[in-house]
Amino acid sequence: MSSKAFTSLMGSVNSAAVVVTTVADDIQAGCLVGYHTQSSIAPQQYCFWLSKANHTYRAGLLATHFAVHFLTAEDLPLAQHFATRSGDDTDKFADLDVAADAEHGVPLLQDCPNRMVVERLSIVDDGGDHVCVTARVVDAESTGKFTPLRIADLGKMAPAHGSDERAVHP
Ligand SMILES: Cc1cc2nc3c(=O)[nH]c(=O)nc-3n(C[C@H](O)[C@H](O)[C@H](O)COP(=O)(O)O)c2cc1C
Repeated sequence: MSSKAFTSLMGSVNSAAVVVTTVADDIQAGCLVGYHTQSSIAPQQYCFWLSKANHTYRAGLLATHFAVHFLTAEDLPLAQHFATRSGDDTDKFADLDVAADAEHGVPLLQDCPNRMVVERLSIVDDGGDHVCVTARVVDAESTGKFTPLRIADLGKMAPAHGSDERAVHP
């Protein structure tokens, strides 16, 4: 198997970048996500993958709802904010305009009006370094057509956690 070819295929696909946020036990979490897709038309469903290394993954294990924020070409600084810092040692929401979703308390980034609130259906761990969160769309807001920020637009952005890192339990 050629791992170079796989990387090349994924580079050509060049997904849109989103920020996934959530809350559990009053702890807000969120990170930049490149692995995500629609997974059903009716009912409307969406999947995204969270790295087992991330603070957002650990909060997400306890969470029922998530917000998926679609970034636009102007959102590079926000992408950097959510990709290069970790909720393990920083409050990523402290210096942002954030509102809690009225029903579920999920953090909504006010600078990202193209977004959905989703309810978790399942979390699938198939042995990879990410888990798949399958979800039902419960609310969606859109300003109309926009140019997404794509993974290739991020350049060489170093994530706060390597995908092989795992939390150490005290
Ligand atoms: C281009 C790029 C794509 C990424 N895609 C994902 C992803 O699909 N899922 C994920 O959990 N983390 C992804 N990350 C990593 C997280 O965004 C990053 O490690 C973040 O700082 C984790 O924050 P947290 O520890 O507060 O959750 C990606 C990072 C980059 C730079």
